[in-house]
Amino acid sequence: MDKNLKNDLLIRAALSQPTERPPVWMMRQAGRFMKEYWEIKNKYSFLEMCKTPEIAADVTMLPIDLLGVDAAILFSDILVTAEAMGGDLSFEQGVGPRFSNPIRTAKDAEYLNVDCLDKLQYVGDAIRVIQNRLDGSVPLIGFAGAPFTILSYLVEGGSSKDFKLTKTFMNNQPELAHSILQKIADVTVDYLNMQIEAGVNALQLFDSWALALSWNDYQEFSHKYNKYIISKLNRKDVPIISFSKGSSVFAPIMADANPDVVSVDWNADLLNIKKALPHNMAVQGNLDPFVLYADKPVIKKKILELFERMRGENGFIFNLGHGIMPDMPFDNVKYAIDVIKEFRY
Ligand code: CP3
Repeated sequence: MDKNLKNDLLIRAALSQPTERPPVWMMRQAGRFMKEYWEIKNKYSFLEMCKTPEIAADVTMLPIDLLGVDAAILFSDILVTAEAMGGDLSFEQGVGPRFSNPIRTAKDAEYLNVDCLDKLQYVGDAIRVIQNRLDGSVPLIGFAGAPFTILSYLVEGGSSKDFKLTKTFMNNQPELAHSILQKIADVTVDYLNMQIEAGVNALQLFDSWALALSWNDYQEFSHKYNKYIISKLNRKDVPIISFSKGSSVFAPIMADANPDVVSVDWNADLLNIKKALPHNMAVQGNLDPFVLYADKPVIKKKILELFERMRGENGFIFNLGHGIMPDMPFDNVKYAIDVIKEFRY
């Protein structure tokens, strides 16, 4: 464990050691629900923000300074690896991510370049600037997208509701799908090891859209590569968190990839998931983010219900089952965090 951390709750919980209370951070905590985010966003494009270490650091620090969460998460995006490999990525207001060169055939995939770590050095630079600013106050979480989720964006050319093109691609051209997944996995290994080198304190692998897959396809097209990535990380004392929407079903397979923490969506009973995992594998989750739209007494009640359920368990990090929505009232998010920080076991 990093002896220089003043608040190491997240690291202790990730390693299933005792904590006075569960640590809290929230996916998409550095984002659009804060007016301070928009003050920066109005001046730069999203990718400019990611690629300018000082700006990425400014945004990363917002939830530390304004919300008092127990961990910072690097301001970036899961799709930067696909961009470094040759994807022509843009983010359009109201549309989300777009690739102008989507992959549907073997010929389309020819541009993919595995030797691209030099194009991601700005992330290492951002990590160093952020660690300087954090000065050991809380841990910094680095991250990457999981190969299946990245592949879905490359094939669809953007976001998708039903992953029709991705599934058809995997069904009809499985060898091509596997060769691309392996390339993404290799880039992700280099990328995450670079983040460890640059000084992150924890890592999260985001397999957001695994919930679209059948049991068999999850193992063949997703889990296999996540396991490969986690097995190749020079983990040292950096805990690995594995997130997917779909974890309510796939948690036991996710555990087979040997992360330190399984991050659980909001469908499952968190304690039941924890009990189904190997001893000393932690869980993160799993409040339905829509609860944060509710009145404050309801927010408090639902958080305390979750804490009661998890009472006596080491290895529990509070988070949402998925990211904070962009129109979430800031006040409600802050209130939830205050409730959590007042709680004691
Ligand atoms: O959590 C954080 O606050 C750290 C930063 C972060 C972003 N994206 C910033 C972002 C993280 C960890 C991500 C991960 C990410 N990106 C995921 C996995 C997590 C999840 O939500 O499932 C996915 C699927 C993406 C892809 C992506 N990036 C989408 C679909 C979009 C647009 C729509 C949306 O839901 O936001 C983005 C853009 C993006 N990434 C924004 C931010 C702050 C919004 C950019 C803007 O318009 O200001």
